[in-house]
Amino acid sequence: MSGCFITVEGGEGAGKSSNLDFVRRYLERHGKQPVVTREPGGTSLGEAIRALLLDHRNNKITDDTELLLMFAARAQHLAEVIRPALEQGRWVLCDRFTDATYAYQGGGRGIARERIAQLEKWVQQGLEPDLTLLLDIPVQQGLQRAGQRSIPDRFEREQIAFFERVRAAYLEQARRYPERYRVIDASQPLDKVQQSLAEVLAEWLAQR
Ligand code: TMP
Repeated sequence: MSGCFITVEGGEGAGKSSNLDFVRRYLERHGKQPVVTREPGGTSLGEAIRALLLDHRNNKITDDTELLLMFAARAQHLAEVIRPALEQGRWVLCDRFTDATYAYQGGGRGIARERIAQLEKWVQQGLEPDLTLLLDIPVQQGLQRAGQRSIPDRFEREQIAFFERVRAAYLEQARRYPERYRVIDASQPLDKVQQSLAEVLAEWLAQR
């Protein structure tokens, strides 16, 4: 595979959408035309699974069902979108990936890391992101920023303690994989966050 796989991660109110858009434009200015996609989702089947997962009326979904649905959507996404793009030498920019599973299902729901790792191995067969940009923000500040944007989905209805565990699990992933992770302080004003992103991307592109 000759393309490059970049993922963007972060908790509530970390500014993921606008910063993902900034990363896309940065890459385009530097001659890359990334395939921009997201998880859960990215395929028609994956988007249908996403709708099931986010629907707040599905309050009987068990933690294991949630985990398996995340990986079902991911298996389809890898087969239909991510692997073909990378094989063609394309760059892929993905809004969340398996680190979100370690954060939300692992940290948030308390599913054992080894269980997630088994599914990761099975579904990904060794494929992992080349670069992961983690937009990190203190939970309270993120939740204030996120505010009441729309009707909260099934995850957004969780309590602060859940999001604290999600944040801690993301930071733990960053400590485990320092070579691919870059932690961005997303509590700064947007222009400063984007300056940090530009610095990381410039350094990273220079190495390739
Ligand atoms: P978002 O990508 O629009 O922020 O929302 C997707 C939601 O799905 C978000 O609350 C995080 C959650 N999620 C997981 O719980 N596990 C995962 O593996 C992924 C990709 C997302």
